[in-house]
Amino acid sequence: MTMLFSPLTFRGHTLPNRAVVSPMCQYSARHGLANEWHLVHLGRFALGGFGTVMVEATAVAPEGRITYGCLGLWEDAQIAPLRRIVDFLHAQGATAALQIAHAGRKASGPLPWRGTFNETEAEKRTLAFEEWTPVAPSAVAHNSCYKVPRALDEDGLARIRQSFVATARRAEQAGFDVLELHSAHGYLLHEFLSPVSNQRRDRYGGSRENRMRFPLEVAEAVRRAWGPEKPLWARISTQDWIADGWQVEDSIVYASALKERGIDLIDCSSGGFDQSAHKLAAHYQVPFAKAVRDGAGLPTMAVGLITDPKAAERVLAAGEADLVALGRGALEDPNWVHHARHVLEPGDSSYTGWPQQMGYAIRNKDRVIPRPASA
Ligand SMILES: Cc1cc2nc3c(=O)[nH]c(=O)nc-3n(C[C@H](O)[C@H](O)[C@H](O)COP(=O)(O)O)c2cc1C
Repeated sequence: MTMLFSPLTFRGHTLPNRAVVSPMCQYSARHGLANEWHLVHLGRFALGGFGTVMVEATAVAPEGRITYGCLGLWEDAQIAPLRRIVDFLHAQGATAALQIAHAGRKASGPLPWRGTFNETEAEKRTLAFEEWTPVAPSAVAHNSCYKVPRALDEDGLARIRQSFVATARRAEQAGFDVLELHSAHGYLLHEFLSPVSNQRRDRYGGSRENRMRFPLEVAEAVRRAWGPEKPLWARISTQDWIADGWQVEDSIVYASALKERGIDLIDCSSGGFDQSAHKLAAHYQVPFAKAVRDGAGLPTMAVGLITDPKAAERVLAAGEADLVALGRGALEDPNWVHHARHVLEPGDSSYTGWPQQMGYAIRNKDRVIPRPASA
């Protein structure tokens, strides 16, 4: 069996294969509630063979949403629509994962395809438009297009920590198997970690140890609240791509501290601040997954422009990462995993991964028009 199709167990839960759908905001919720869009969008990845489907950044508090259209799990009414999605994923044999997040100073932005707040009054009512003043470690805006945030005091930090805990409990009620803490991409937890955004002079700012304090407090509290048998992951920006910013060496220290607190895997992304300068290329973040895996000694997930099944298999087989996550590649081809199996494990048995409603019919088609070797 290839690595991509090997199961992997974390604590009491086994992922059926190594392909994960990376969390992707859909900006399509009203009042943080999941709806039919989320069910179908996520459901098709489970039909497409992804072993783990991760729900987008889901806010632990209303003011922690990136936009007014983002999902939330800050109140009990938000559990049932997520439960419906989890039940569908489970019925297809997929692992249901949820990324929980607070957007910090990058909250209350416009919907990305609009780029600005240009909603008419009628659209505002239909879309449940809201905007608010974000909170952050320091009262410094992300850039001139973002609002100047309010700096959090210790009471504010305690409230957010508690929101993460309450959200983790709701995630358990919704039936999720895996929880991921979002501490990447210039959102709240990453804003504490990075000297680019953290200009505090109290015990949450200054030295690396101080900057890691709040994210680690959150991780520790969530670990206690989330079932001991359940995997807890963390997404990190392994580096800011800024000379004076957070670096891969910092990530290894942070990942080791997360490991001590019971985090089971590090999802290795990068960037999130405007000033970052880097060139994108296929697999550009894989070396970070390897550096963290080797340096901190815990499993990692590689993400970022992974699209080719053979190359993904090489990453896993070389021990550069334990899981591979696809974002845009999954949007483009929700059946990527089934197609990957035809490439990596060709033959009649490669049709058994498809849902039974589809596999036999696709095999019959391929008997007439043979599948190209690479597809
Ligand atoms: C539409 C879209 C929404 C995204 N939303 C999130 C998110 O909710 N949380 C997150 O950590 N990353 C988010 N990302 C980043 C992806 O999870 C992924 O890390 C990134 O797209 C790189 O992987 P790819 O090259 O396979 O797309 C998003 C990316 C896209 C394209």
